[in-house]
Amino acid sequence: MNVYDSERMAEALSVAGYQPVDVPEAADMVILNTCHIREKAAEKVYSELGRLKPLKQANADMIIGVAGCVAQAEGEEMIHRAPLVDMVFGPQTYQQLPDMISDLDAGRRDGDRVRLVRTEFPAEEKFAALNAAPRRPITRAPTAFVTVQEGCDKFCTFCVVPYTRGAEVSRATADIVDEANALAAQGVCEITLLGQNVNAWQDRETGLRLDGLLEALAQIEGIERLRFTTSHPRDMDAALIAAHGHNDKLMPYLHLPVQSGSDPILKAMNRRHTRAQYLDLVAAFRNARADLALSSDFIVGFPGETDADFDATMDLVAAVSYAQAFSFKYSPRPGTPAAAEENQVDEDIKARRLARLQARLNEQQEAFNREKLETVLPVLFEKPSRQADQMSGRSPYLQPVHVRVAEQHFDALVGRILPVRITGAHANSLSGELADG
Ligand code: 5AD
Ligand code: SF4
Repeated sequence: MNVYDSERMAEALSVAGYQPVDVPEAADMVILNTCHIREKAAEKVYSELGRLKPLKQANADMIIGVAGCVAQAEGEEMIHRAPLVDMVFGPQTYQQLPDMISDLDAGRRDGDRVRLVRTEFPAEEKFAALNAAPRRPITRAPTAFVTVQEGCDKFCTFCVVPYTRGAEVSRATADIVDEANALAAQGVCEITLLGQNVNAWQDRETGLRLDGLLEALAQIEGIERLRFTTSHPRDMDAALIAAHGHNDKLMPYLHLPVQSGSDPILKAMNRRHTRAQYLDLVAAFRNARADLALSSDFIVGFPGETDADFDATMDLVAAVSYAQAFSFKYSPRPGTPAAAEENQVDEDIKARRLARLQARLNEQQEAFNREKLETVLPVLFEKPSRQADQMSGRSPYLQPVHVRVAEQHFDALVGRILPVRITGAHANSLSGELADG
């Protein structure tokens, strides 16, 4: 979602006459788009700001902005703590960027230093602004994100999202379809629907659910692949599961965070489902689509997590077998219920558990990649690889695939889906050759 927000900021800024540059030294304006989900991410903001200090000292006209959830959470406080920051704005307000910049410029013309804090806007207005601003992708990428849902009402006890992103709001079907049509007209062939709780999406007027939206998007000419992220196990319905069996454009990959495999921990996290319910969901999905690849998020060292709880997580991982996963040490976040718990787990225990879990998840990912050796997969070609004479794309299972092709064919291949014979399987990617020579 932050990548999407950054893209939309870049689009709004290009309308205001700005162009992206490669390094901060070459910029008139630097915006840090920030994440508040774990302490490490939030701390990074201040160290990044420290690195920008010499640039601002050398060029007093440089505008420095902080966007996203750290900005939302800290607001005014950030203005006091970081004197070099000119604007602090939350994730619901970035469509106002051109106006904010005019305000800063007007202040400068009058010889004042204006500093702005914008953190007060409801998601509904953000959607209105999203709908009003046409998509103007600044790259030729054949894949794009589309926000369909914002915010979260789940209140998992470890998580800041319900506080920084606000309540769940769904965007209207027609607006989403319009945006997807505009993207398709610009050559986009893969759309990933985004939402903190994407499968809670529902059209307020018609009651349409995500399976119906995916069906509508599948009808758009030029759209070949559909994905959605991130889902909550509680909001999964039978129709969405079934869609994985009959919507041909829906890719066989599902990110379904479980966080823990232990029932007492799931309860303490307020996840509102059990281990058995999660495993049943996984079985139902695989029943609808046998080759479905699963990915998940895990937290180790949640307050009160015992060795037995952690073993239950390892056991669930063995039972599901993931194609990919993200795992984290529990990080106490200000204002969340779990942060106030007394039975916090020692950092070294968290580190040991994380290492064990990640070793297992990496093994599973490598095994999943190895299974694809000598098979032929349809690959959506996206861009030149870092290595010469290679292009990179994605398999249906979201694996990056590096394919050897002569450089003169690069342009013609961007945005095409072609069969690739997989000849190499690596920790995080595959390599292969065009199957039809
Ligand atoms: N500590 C560690 N990980 C967290 N996540 C969310 N909040 C925390 C926290 N306080 C993880 C969850 C979530 C992912 C986006 O970030 O696993 O699914
Ligand atoms: Fe956070 Fe839970 Fe909402 Fe996900 S469902 S954003 S983990 S509160």
